[in-house]
Amino acid sequence: ISHFVSLDDLSTVEIERLIARGLELKQGASPHRTVTKTVANLFFEHSTRTKCSFEMAEHHLGLHVLPFETATSSVQKGETLLDTCKTLEAIGVDALIVRHGETGYYERLQEQLRIPIINAGDGSGQHPSQSLLDLMTMYEAFGDVTGKTIVICGDLRHSRVARSNAHVLRRLGATVIGSGPREWFDDTLGIAYQEIDEALTSSDIIMLLRVQHERHLDDQSFEATVYHQRYGLTHERMARIRPEAIVLHPAPVNRGVEIAEELVEHAQSRIFDQMTNGVFARMAILERAFDEPTTKETI
Ligand code: CP
Repeated sequence: ISHFVSLDDLSTVEIERLIARGLELKQGASPHRTVTKTVANLFFEHSTRTKCSFEMAEHHLGLHVLPFETATSSVQKGETLLDTCKTLEAIGVDALIVRHGETGYYERLQEQLRIPIINAGDGSGQHPSQSLLDLMTMYEAFGDVTGKTIVICGDLRHSRVARSNAHVLRRLGATVIGSGPREWFDDTLGIAYQEIDEALTSSDIIMLLRVQHERHLDDQSFEATVYHQRYGLTHERMARIRPEAIVLHPAPVNRGVEIAEELVEHAQSRIFDQMTNGVFARMAILERAFDEPTTKETI
């Protein structure tokens, strides 16, 4: 079963193949249409980009999408995630795309289900489809990431985007630096910390993270303007980045916090390209889910 829950489970060969396939689809290659298959999108946390781009990818592949809304489902009567997923499997759904607030929610599902689980984000765990679209965006700019330096700046401790990207980028030969508030840094990521003004000038890729206000509800001391001046991509900092460097952000963006309002559309920003690439990355992921099982290459 081709689950897609963390890039850690895929070989580098398979990750490179997915990046290449996403870019090929973007350039107009014919998708592997899977009109006989049905999928359901289960989003237990809010989403615009991931949900809508999975839906767009499903549309391009000719998949049937079973409507499912958590708000009107029996989840509201206390049904568990596992029983919800088993029910959908029992009525004939061929793959599930799941976003859930519980880190690692997929561990039990993988053992119990015989249909692929595609992880659309789990708590502070992983966001592998975001990583894949980020990689596509980096490969578009640089060909690959070997020898490139990436600074990931912001709320690293709560960020599934940071966790997914820090691991996979290092596997693919990049140097990854963490930056932003020292108290939000996460030693378990296995990357070094640098102050943003130092890291910016030596980086090829500047990845800003969203301040996750919903995960900082009890922190009364947070001030957006202070964050922007100390850690944000201000106009002054933008003027000091390398001319060939690119700026990424998974979005939604807090304009004026992680990045100055007008810089979101700057020529070196790839923020909206990331969203476009998300559709093709997710097409490649869905194609893989319905491919014949392949032998796992050595990681
Ligand atoms: N980047 C991302 O996951 O955005 P959404 O939460 O809108 O899906």
